[in-house]
Amino acid sequence: MKVIVFGYGGQLGTDIVRCIEGKANYKIFAFRHQDLDINDFEKVKEVILSIKPDIVFNCSAWNKVDDAEFPENSNLVFRTNAFAPSNMARVSSRIKSIFVNISTDYVFDGRKMMPYEETDDVNPLSVYALSKLLGELLVKKHSERYIIVRSGGLYGISGSFVSQRTYRNFVERVIENVSAGKKMKIVNDVFSAPTYTFDLARKICEIVEDGFLGIIHIMQNGVISWFDFSIQICKMMRFDESYIEPVTYDQLNPIAKRPKFSVLKNSILDKLGKNDLMDIQEALEKYLKERSRYI
Ligand SMILES: NC(=O)c1ccc[n+]([C@@H]2O[C@H](COP(=O)([O-])OP(=O)(O)OC[C@H]3O[C@@H](n4cnc5c(N)ncnc54)[C@H](OP(=O)(O)O)[C@@H]3O)[C@@H](O)[C@H]2O)c1
Repeated sequence: MKVIVFGYGGQLGTDIVRCIEGKANYKIFAFRHQDLDINDFEKVKEVILSIKPDIVFNCSAWNKVDDAEFPENSNLVFRTNAFAPSNMARVSSRIKSIFVNISTDYVFDGRKMMPYEETDDVNPLSVYALSKLLGELLVKKHSERYIIVRSGGLYGISGSFVSQRTYRNFVERVIENVSAGKKMKIVNDVFSAPTYTFDLARKICEIVEDGFLGIIHIMQNGVISWFDFSIQICKMMRFDESYIEPVTYDQLNPIAKRPKFSVLKNSILDKLGKNDLMDIQEALEKYLKERSRYI
C-alpha cells in the first residue's frame, strides 16, 4: 500500500504517519508545508500521479479561525481549505485512490445544544467554517472514493513544540500561561469534546482499512466546557486553578463567531460497534503523559 500524507508536521498529519509507520506493507510519502505547498495545484497533481498512491490523506489546512475573517486572507483561506482539497480529490479519483479530507465541528451552528450527527443540517458561522464546508462539497463532487472526517478541538504532540511551528494547541497555551503565573479568561458556556490527534489518527486509519467511505464524525467521547477542560488540565498538571477565570462567550466576543455547542456524536461508529474513542479525561491524561516524555 502506498500512502501520501499532506500536512505532515501538523498535529494530525504527524499522528497519521505515526499510526501507519508501524504497519507492514505500507510505504509512506509524507509532505510538510516546506516540502510542498498544497496550493501549487500542478505540483500536487504531479506528486499524486507519479506516486500513484492507494490512499491520500490531506491534513493540511488554514486553521487561524479569527484571521480568516479578514478580507485580505480570504483568497488563501478558500484556496487552502476548499480548492486545494478539491484538486486533490479530482486527481486522486483519476487513479482510483481513496481521498481522506479532514473537516470541522464548526460546520454546525451549535443551536441544537445536543451532539451533532453526520446527517444533521450544517450552518457555518465563520469564514473558516464556510471554507471547510465548501471543501466538503467539492470533495464529494469530485471523488467517489472519499472519506470526510469531521472532528474538533484538536491537540497533539506536534502542537506542543513551538520551536518547530508557530501554532500551539489549547492545552499547551493553558500550560504555558498558568505555569508563567498569567491569568486566563476561558469561556464557560461553549462546549466541545477536545480531541487528541493520536486517538483520532488511530481511528481514521482503522476506518480506512475497514473500507468505510463517506462523511464520518470522530471525536473524543463526552461533553465539556472549555473552562472545565482548562481546570482539568490544571488539576492534572498540579497547577493553581485560580489562574483560570470563567467568562461567557459574549464577554469574550471573539472576532470569528463560533458555535456554542459543537460536540459531534460518533453515530456511524456507534452503529458499526466501533466507537472506542477515549473519553475526554482519559485522552487528556494520555496526551499529558506523552508530552512529559519530550518536555
Ligand atoms: N486544530 C483544530 O482544533 C481543528 C479543529 C477541527 C478541524 N481541524 C482540521 O483538522 C485538520 C488537521 O488539523 P491540525 O490541528 O493537525 O492542524 P495543524 O497542526 O495546524 O496542521 C496543519 C498543517 O497544514 C500546514 N499547511 C498550512 N497551509 C499549507 C499549505 N498551503 N500547503 C501545505 N501545508 C500547509 C501547516 O503548516 P504551517 O504550520 O507551516 O502553516 C500545518 O503543518 C485540518 O484539516 C483542520 O482544519 C482542526
